[in-house]
Amino acid sequence: MSIVFTPDTNLFTLTTAHTACQMGLDPLGHLLHLYYGRRAAGDFRRLYLPRDCGFSPNPYEMREGRGWSLDTLPQEYSGSNTGDYRLPSLELTAESGVCGALLRYVRHEIRPGKYALSGLPAAFDPDAAAETLSVTLSDAAAGVEVELLYGVYEAWDVITRAVRITNTGTGAVRLEKAASLCLDIPFGAWELIHFHGRHTMEMTPERAPLLHGVQSVLSRRGASSHQHNPFVILCEPEATEDAGECYGIMPVYSGSHRTDIELDQAGSVRVVSGINADGFSWTLAPGEVFVTPEVILAFTADGLTALSHIFHRFIPCCLCRSRFALSPRPVLLNSWEAAYFDFDEDRLVRIAEGAAALGAELFVLDDGWFGQRDDDTRALGDWFPHPGKLPGGLSPLIRRVRETGLLFGIWLEPEMVSENSDLYRAHPDWALRVPGRKPAMSRDQLVLDLSRPEVTDFLYNTISGLLRSHPIAYVKWDMNRSLSDVYSAALPPERQGETAHRYMLGLYGLLDRLTAAFPDVLFEGCAGGGGRFDAGMLAYFPQIWASDNTDPIARLGIQRGLSYGYPPSAVGAHVSSSPNHQTGRHTPLFTRAVTAMAGSFGCELDPAALTEAERAEIRGLIARYRDEIQPLVLTGRYYRLTDTAIYSAWQLVSEGGDAVLVTVVTRSPESNPRPLHLRLKGLDPAAVYTLTRADGGGANADADAAAYTGAALMYAGCTLPPLLGDYPCARLYFRRKQPAAQDFDQEADYEHKQYGNPSAGMP
Ligand code: GLA
Repeated sequence: MSIVFTPDTNLFTLTTAHTACQMGLDPLGHLLHLYYGRRAAGDFRRLYLPRDCGFSPNPYEMREGRGWSLDTLPQEYSGSNTGDYRLPSLELTAESGVCGALLRYVRHEIRPGKYALSGLPAAFDPDAAAETLSVTLSDAAAGVEVELLYGVYEAWDVITRAVRITNTGTGAVRLEKAASLCLDIPFGAWELIHFHGRHTMEMTPERAPLLHGVQSVLSRRGASSHQHNPFVILCEPEATEDAGECYGIMPVYSGSHRTDIELDQAGSVRVVSGINADGFSWTLAPGEVFVTPEVILAFTADGLTALSHIFHRFIPCCLCRSRFALSPRPVLLNSWEAAYFDFDEDRLVRIAEGAAALGAELFVLDDGWFGQRDDDTRALGDWFPHPGKLPGGLSPLIRRVRETGLLFGIWLEPEMVSENSDLYRAHPDWALRVPGRKPAMSRDQLVLDLSRPEVTDFLYNTISGLLRSHPIAYVKWDMNRSLSDVYSAALPPERQGETAHRYMLGLYGLLDRLTAAFPDVLFEGCAGGGGRFDAGMLAYFPQIWASDNTDPIARLGIQRGLSYGYPPSAVGAHVSSSPNHQTGRHTPLFTRAVTAMAGSFGCELDPAALTEAERAEIRGLIARYRDEIQPLVLTGRYYRLTDTAIYSAWQLVSEGGDAVLVTVVTRSPESNPRPLHLRLKGLDPAAVYTLTRADGGGANADADAAAYTGAALMYAGCTLPPLLGDYPCARLYFRRKQPAAQDFDQEADYEHKQYGNPSAGMP
């Protein structure tokens, strides 16, 4: 049992393999948060001594002695207007005028299996081993019940959280804030790691100690945003990749989100996470229910890498419903940077033929194929073939692409509409815009009002029609602007605060229907690259185009940032041409390719523009990606090794531990270089690993089969010859030997071999 309620003490204890979480009822029925951390047993109420803290009020019934306050004790789901002046989780106004929420225990239930959330993406329970705790609290004056939901995944070291709020009164209740998670961390010093950025420069980690007051990680863009990813980490100041306590907070939401982190007067931390309350409101009629998005919570005492590994496993196994989540994806070639808007059927077929010759498996026709789409000012919404570029329609093109041996994939931006489009001319009220105001334009497009069922039905019918009438194996689902002018022509004035979240519910409903109807289509998410790279999207899409920046040196940072919370298989990454279209930088083909091979790999170039030697190089690399590297990306373990101004290095270890791939890329070569020394991670210290291959600088060198123990590679490490020049890189491929018994006695021998030939197998 991973969830236990002890009636004599009124304690709820949730345990996973390495963690414990405890909450308990106080004499008045407030649900106190007592502990979440390393697995430990006991009654953790003992940690909280009575304390009279000035200006922290006491509940009426407990005013004697002044030792008890909602403002100083950790809460499981904070109310508002109650004398807890820290971050509220729930803010509301009832028709009676009662505002705020004072939440007290009503009942609870422990049941096998994982709860589901109607209309929202949520983790599922692939091993039928999860358990659900539901604790219902209520505020009788406001007329609401609040059901706190906990999904406990013992073996995964994960607890999911969500909340259902029911209007149990006789009048309407207006929610002004309804957080998914409140997590009080009463003791210790903590640092926040969050991921900020901008278009083409996503996911820059920033780590800083908490300051007194509130720090926010948020988006108001109607999408999770390039600017601030919803995933955050709180860790001890001493936490490193390999040790230290860390909490990971992963909202399963793709709209405007907000995670506030407060360091209060007592040095306690409160984290409140969920839908961004700015501009949000939701009216519940009597009997109606509001469901918050889910948050996935993980804790480890073993450092940032261990925390990443929890999410790397959990997302594809327990959240992503796609049948591709853990299975091989076709290596694709995308037409965008190869042709942009400038193509006709013959040019596309030539690119596809080139892609087939490289060994790619899927050709993706990006933007520009529909309506009158000659540039990005028009035609979004007109999802029929461009009469000038594809006069015969899609069928002859797809037939010719498939004759090259490739699968066919297509780009769509369903959530958008151009002012200059047949769709907008027919349905101007389908776009979000505030009556009486000119809307803000972005890339000359407007956002469709996905809160309206007729809009999502139109999109479902259009897209399913396209997928039914053509053999389309892949869809790139793009979204190229932030929401503004959020106003739905279909909602009454007093409900406009619901539009942005109803948009998300409409989108999730649409994705649910489409991915269920077309389970064999591989969907890749995209929002100008990483503008919506989040766990909500990953419930439907096994991969997301990580950034419109395909420069490998810039990608080092973006992909590394993503790796803290998201699995490598989720990261769409392509080799593109040099000089790079976003930064103008020249880089070697090998560096471009191996950097993209840290994720779900593809090409984004015109093969005809390459030299014969480059084509041969890519052909070899793709073959190796498919056979040797993709399995590591899909199910292996990813380690961040080193990241300095000079080098960035990472490592993948296959699921069973037999294959190990180390990649080092030079960011900026150093004169008179210091040794490039790496310690490998995640190996079996006693096993013997053979360096079966070392590639670098564009030349492939066969290794001399040097062998090392895991201990030697992890503790002593490897010293590599300096990598000089413009952005060279090296890749080392080790295989674990099935050891003969006597090999265990020969560590000294392997050490000797290593030192005897320090650059064994290196380029
Ligand atoms: C976005 C995507 C790109 C490409 C263009 C097409 O920017 O991120 O990959 O599809 O749209 O307009």
